Amino acid sequence: MIILGINETSHDASVSLIKDGEVLFAGHAERYSKKKNDWYNNREIILDALNYGTPDAIAYYEKPLLKKSRIIIHGGASDWKPKFPINVPVYYFKHHHSHAAAGYYTSAFDDACIVVLDAIGEFNTSTVWVGEGEKIKLRYKQNYPVSFGLFYSAFTQLIGLMPNQEEYIMMGMAGYGDWKKYYKKVDDYFPSYDKQKYNFHKGITDWGFVSEQDKFDIAAAVQMVYEQRLNQFMRMAKSLTGKNNLVFMGGCALNSSANTLLWNIFDMIWIMPNPGDAGSSLGAAAALYGKHINWNGPYLGHDLGGDYPIQQIVNDILKDGIVAVASGRAEYGPRALGNRSILADPRDPSIKDKVNLIKQRELFRPFAPVVMAEHAHKWFDMDFESPYMQYTVKCIQPEKIPSVVHVDGTSRVQTVTKDQHPGLYRVLNKFYLQTGVPILLNTSLNIKGQPLLNDMKDVLDWQAHYGYNILTGITPL
Ligand SMILES: [Fe+2]
Repeated sequence: MIILGINETSHDASVSLIKDGEVLFAGHAERYSKKKNDWYNNREIILDALNYGTPDAIAYYEKPLLKKSRIIIHGGASDWKPKFPINVPVYYFKHHHSHAAAGYYTSAFDDACIVVLDAIGEFNTSTVWVGEGEKIKLRYKQNYPVSFGLFYSAFTQLIGLMPNQEEYIMMGMAGYGDWKKYYKKVDDYFPSYDKQKYNFHKGITDWGFVSEQDKFDIAAAVQMVYEQRLNQFMRMAKSLTGKNNLVFMGGCALNSSANTLLWNIFDMIWIMPNPGDAGSSLGAAAALYGKHINWNGPYLGHDLGGDYPIQQIVNDILKDGIVAVASGRAEYGPRALGNRSILADPRDPSIKDKVNLIKQRELFRPFAPVVMAEHAHKWFDMDFESPYMQYTVKCIQPEKIPSVVHVDGTSRVQTVTKDQHPGLYRVLNKFYLQTGVPILLNTSLNIKGQPLLNDMKDVLDWQAHYGYNILTGITPL
């Protein structure tokens, strides 16, 4: 059976297509429409998905009436209009159920504690599920307005960033701040995982003036309080379920600094590379399928074709320090993991500023390293793999790779094995043989605030507009 999963009418619309437990396609609407966090799917992404098969059923993320009732009671956007031009059975799955299914059914576990933390679903904001065999069962729920995600987003807005979009920037700013300065004040807003001072959905209205330096100190305090509440919540979830494996989903699972701490609580952790709402088109499809899906990696979106241009990448990095790559299928998830990436030499301290200039980002923003998995422990304080750039860890040799180490001495690491991405692994191996460093800087191929490049038109537009060559591995006719 072929199932089309759809997420739309909230931020990050997406489409997925699965067939008998194989993911045929999974992509983000914004990459096609060029509207960041696009709420709606478009003709192009639907057609791209349908190239891989014709659905027998459609699974929608969210229960429309339940969400509408929350919007009527509490306010919010209300232009709900599910529609799809194929006459097949349509099913709806709750917001947190879709998140839980996306996580558990793509995991290798048949026994796990599943935690979903986000801003808000229909009503649920924090849920704990038990996964056993092919069954997932709800064990705990916290409803709106108490919410980990709304807490983090409200402070994102307080310091002048875009809520629901730029939380990752606040996380990066935390490294520059003094967490102690505002800890008490922030802690009072969120004293326990199930208690908050007020409804953060309406923003923070009683803080007063926020200076530029305050922004970094507030970010640091918010990150600290968030990590402490997360720690409490996860310990509660572990004792509630009695499980040693964790599946973590929802937008909060994108907080890579906090995620690292979870290895102190659970033996094994799986965070699907698209844990936020964009990942829930796959979640809705998985919930309808109701069984584990064969997970072969995140390269599930638009297919540019081409052979990964291994030698060209290595040559250009050794010559120029920076290279742009767009090859094969786009990543499903917010991180570029090699197929829509800018790769650069991490040894050069000036590279960070050069890449930030290309991407038009704030100069304080850190960059992530991609490392051959078997070398990761020699360069970073980690005894686990991080294939999707989901954990921030201490760098052991920061003086050798200054451009991928944050001001607080940490790096958000992507580990790569031969199976995971043979082309990227070979690039790293060749760079390692030439330099002794099995690491490159890896950042998304986009301009700040814009979606990642998707198709050949994007590649040509970028090259014409910015004057940079992009390696595609496609041989000209
Ligand atoms: Fe969500």
